Amino acid sequence: MKDQVEKIIKFQNVSKVFPGVRALNNVSFDIKKGEIHALLGENGAGKSTLLNILHGVLTEYDGEVHLNNQIVKFKNANDAIHHGISKVHQEVSLIPELSVGQNIVLGYEPKKGMLIDNKSIHEKANEILSKLRCNFKSEDKAGSLSTGEMQMVAIAKALYHKAEVISFDEPTASLSKSETDSLFEIINELKQNGITILYVSHRLEEIFEICDRATVLRDGTFIESFHVKDVSKEQLIRKMVGRDVSSFAVRNKKGMIGEENVLEVKGLTINNVFEDISFHLKKGEILGFFGLVGSKRTDVIRTIFGAEKKSNGTILLNGKEVDIKSSQQAVKLGLGLVPENRKTQGFLKFFNNADNIALTKLEKFTKFGLISHKKKTENCETYINEINLRPANPHYLTNELSGGNQQKVVISKWLSSDASILFLDEPTKGVDVGAKAEIYRVMEGLLEKGKSIIIVSSELPEVLGMSDRIIVMREGRKVIELKNNGLKEEDVLQYAMGVTKNESQVI
Ligand SMILES: Nc1ncnc2c1ncn2[C@@H]1O[C@H](COP(=O)(O)OP(=O)(O)OP(=O)(O)O)[C@@H](O)[C@H]1O
Ligand SMILES: [Mg+2]
Repeated sequence: MKDQVEKIIKFQNVSKVFPGVRALNNVSFDIKKGEIHALLGENGAGKSTLLNILHGVLTEYDGEVHLNNQIVKFKNANDAIHHGISKVHQEVSLIPELSVGQNIVLGYEPKKGMLIDNKSIHEKANEILSKLRCNFKSEDKAGSLSTGEMQMVAIAKALYHKAEVISFDEPTASLSKSETDSLFEIINELKQNGITILYVSHRLEEIFEICDRATVLRDGTFIESFHVKDVSKEQLIRKMVGRDVSSFAVRNKKGMIGEENVLEVKGLTINNVFEDISFHLKKGEILGFFGLVGSKRTDVIRTIFGAEKKSNGTILLNGKEVDIKSSQQAVKLGLGLVPENRKTQGFLKFFNNADNIALTKLEKFTKFGLISHKKKTENCETYINEINLRPANPHYLTNELSGGNQQKVVISKWLSSDASILFLDEPTKGVDVGAKAEIYRVMEGLLEKGKSIIIVSSELPEVLGMSDRIIVMREGRKVIELKNNGLKEEDVLQYAMGVTKNESQVI
């Protein structure tokens, strides 16, 4: 009987079919009241789909969802929120023109008679925001907030609706280290207050840090639920992927670096953004850029790529000065960029996988002015095998893939291009451990073909594991350039955080 009371959510034989894909297949398990429960699985395993069913985003499915021993079926996401089931996404969508408070109470505004009671909105919202220790106010415009702050607004909204369950789907993917730490503190406090948490992340350290129990899904099927403290990282990976995978970024081969500089950047500046950035990149080299959020790494590479306008500085490709004014021009010159924000910059929404991957090199698939669909499909199939794209279907709309699989399409798009210099901005964001390892191998393959890579990542082990040299940036400036001969995390972090004095020293 006690067991009955403990379960807050019970999934019973939940199945969901999208055209051509069985995203969930008879999934049954339960979540206990007040626990932090991780949902784990490879890209496309069905984690987000299951959450979308719980949260009323997907309303057509088979099977039952029980909340406190009653079958529930929410009409839409707002209906779920109103019933105490809230969701915090990686990228929270708020209405930017409205105030924070208006976003929190949206659709359920406190009224005075017939009229919306603005004073009470802000009073209520500010009370919650101060509990969450936010340093912005209910009266502020939502559009002015950072990603981390927007997530706090989503949590505030959940609390306004007296949430019993809050789920987090890859919440830390765009957060800084300190934002992540404060999010974890808040999540632990929510748990202390009896709120049940569902948590999805590909960063396995986080699972061990905050989760009590975990459930693994593989290809839409339930595999196992267990206590996190009972398993090692290796066991966890094996349960998810079904085989042993190294969770570390490692280079199998080094020393493919040529003599010539393929890229030289001198004194690159955008006034008030970053200043005086100089470096070179050799043929066959991986150069890592590391810095904390706000260090402007992304702006630097976007500027080289012609996506932002420089104020000063010169760029040389193979020793020749170039003036890159647009991304199209950059592509013509042999550059490629896997952008940080794949949803808006990475692929075309109404294109299928084969078309999206072919985009950077259409002439390769064109004969006598006609595009060969067969060639495009074959090209896509190569990458489907190489980095395990799921569903393994060239004709599937990229927009309908799971988050991590979309990232794989964006990466493949550039791998299949003839770009000789690739800029990878957070290339493995949202990618599962198995696919990460595959992406690292593909990167090495590119070096063997004489290509060069610049990698920007906030995952320090990734930068350390893959780069030949590392440039550390802080607040728009290059702090130091380090040769990666057995560098340790602390060596790099101290420069990124500005705790060392020897800033001009080049090792
Ligand atoms: N709107 C949709 N239309 C068609 N297929 C979809 C849709 N949403 C998800 N799918 C498919 O359902 C399957 C499960 O996707 P889901 O997003 O649940 O995976 P996930 O476990 O969250 O993966 P990730 O770790 O990459 O976020 C995938 O094969 C995906 O392509
Ligand atoms: Mg997902």
